[in-house]
Amino acid sequence: MTTQGLLLRSILLLTLLPASSLAEDASKEDDKESQSLQHFTPTLTEEFKELLRNADMEAGAAFFDKKCSTCHDIAEDGINQKGPLLWNVFGRKAGTAEGFEYSEAMKNSGHSWDFATLNYYLTRTDRAVPGRIMNFRGIPEDEIRANLLAYIMKFNTEPPELP
Ligand code: HEC
Repeated sequence: MTTQGLLLRSILLLTLLPASSLAEDASKEDDKESQSLQHFTPTLTEEFKELLRNADMEAGAAFFDKKCSTCHDIAEDGINQKGPLLWNVFGRKAGTAEGFEYSEAMKNSGHSWDFATLNYYLTRTDRAVPGRIMNFRGIPEDEIRANLLAYIMKFNTEPPELP
């Protein structure tokens, strides 16, 4: 077959292939990539801001004690444990607590921690930072995350304003 004939055959084959199957695979991959904090800037919904304003700090503290404190200290005089010290985590560039060995994924994620990035990370940690070594999947419930963030924000030299 001539080169031209081959070319025509390939074009024909390509047009016969269901175009959607190729396109779908590609966009699924793109989606996954674009959902990481390296490529995605999350924002807060008005509903979530409302939850933050009405947050139950005691519930946040209880949740932290139960789910996070096994790996994280948060008090000013705390130290890195299995996870990095969370004192002053608001405003920190991700992956930069002194003396803690982060994953490459966290070190290279490029974002800083604020209400929106923490909220997004804590919803599903593997989506936000693929390759993270924090062995905790996430918190699907908005209200629990809001309570938790309202608690964590206080552990800061200069606690941030509520958004
Ligand atoms: C099983 C241990 C473990 C648990 C449970 C855990 N973490 Fe972590 N956390 C880690 C580790 C390890 C890292 C470092 C991740 C990396 O380098 O990829 C981390 C990183 C983080 C970071 C990024 C900090 C920075 O310096 O960039 C935040 C924020 C965080 N954790 C919050 C929490 C909160 C809030 C909870 C409770 C809901 C929690 N973690 C539960 C182990 C844990």
